[in-house]
Amino acid sequence: FLFFNYNLFVMVSSCSATAIAHPNIALIKYWGNRDDATHIPANSSISMNLGDLSTRTQVILDSDLENDQLILNNSPANDAAQLRVQQFLDYFRAKSGKKAYCRVISSNNFPTAAGIASSASAFAALTLAAAKVYQLELDQRELSRIARLGSGSACRSIPPGFVYWQAGNDHQSSYAESFAPPEYWDLVDCIAVIGDTPKTTSSIEGHRLAATSPLQKARIETAECRLNQCRNAILERNFSELAKVVELDTNLMHAVMITSQTPLLYWQPPTIAVMQQVLNWRSEKLSVFYTIDAGASVHVICLQKDSEEVIKKLKLIEGVRMVIPSGVGGAAHLVES
Ligand code: DP6
Repeated sequence: FLFFNYNLFVMVSSCSATAIAHPNIALIKYWGNRDDATHIPANSSISMNLGDLSTRTQVILDSDLENDQLILNNSPANDAAQLRVQQFLDYFRAKSGKKAYCRVISSNNFPTAAGIASSASAFAALTLAAAKVYQLELDQRELSRIARLGSGSACRSIPPGFVYWQAGNDHQSSYAESFAPPEYWDLVDCIAVIGDTPKTTSSIEGHRLAATSPLQKARIETAECRLNQCRNAILERNFSELAKVVELDTNLMHAVMITSQTPLLYWQPPTIAVMQQVLNWRSEKLSVFYTIDAGASVHVICLQKDSEEVIKKLKLIEGVRMVIPSGVGGAAHLVES
């Protein structure tokens, strides 16, 4: 009996793997693809991982299944999400030669309706756990390339800390790498959550629209300069330089969004109220800046020493539903199931 149990344990443990990954906030944005299918981006981007937020994903390889199954935050996922995961796992089946399907159980430790993109952490965690169960030995660069196939920004959630996603021009040359570890600079992202409806236009659709804006060309052509400024500001821990370049870059992305055909306007009145207050606080010498993704919520970034004050101030702004703070996070990693 003992012998049988031991075998069962070995069998089960070799067919299941669990990984944790953090979402990331882009400081220099990715908006628009050179290739939509493989998410080869129009420009390189820079991000930092958000260590206090995470997605935990278990993948169980099960030869009895007739399809992949996805459980998201304790409920079966909708058809679109199931299909996206199934197509992603097809890559691992093709690469490993193993045909079996998987049960994928994934949950986030942050509220789903908070407007924090979970696709980056979700696909980064899924990449690690799936590579393990399909027995593929992959280095961090290759894991990043594969995560990108699931969601562009997911490639930035594979390495730790402050990350540079080199756009490249094909699958091989497009991957993300860390250029400073999480403890390099104690920045805090205070996420001012605004609005509670799911965003009206997905980023998949948004990336397709980017090229319809007459401003996209100028944004892409000038990205290299901002990328250098941003990386240097982080490496020199120069907060005011970082503030300037990050706000310029997010405003450029939203200018592209607003001028796309059809236009995408993600901001709501409280979004602008937070932006204005951040500028006021900075003029009063508080070290703080904003950045905004494809949604109404505002990421307000400050130094750890000022985070309590920033959170308190943000909570007083009408329309801010809650503030979720996060420090800089590490790499995606496997954990015990
Ligand atoms: C505005 O990575 O979510 O957050 O590749 O279609 O999954 P897909 O898009 P996604 O796009 C992120 C867009 C952004 C900016 C950024 O994170 O760089």
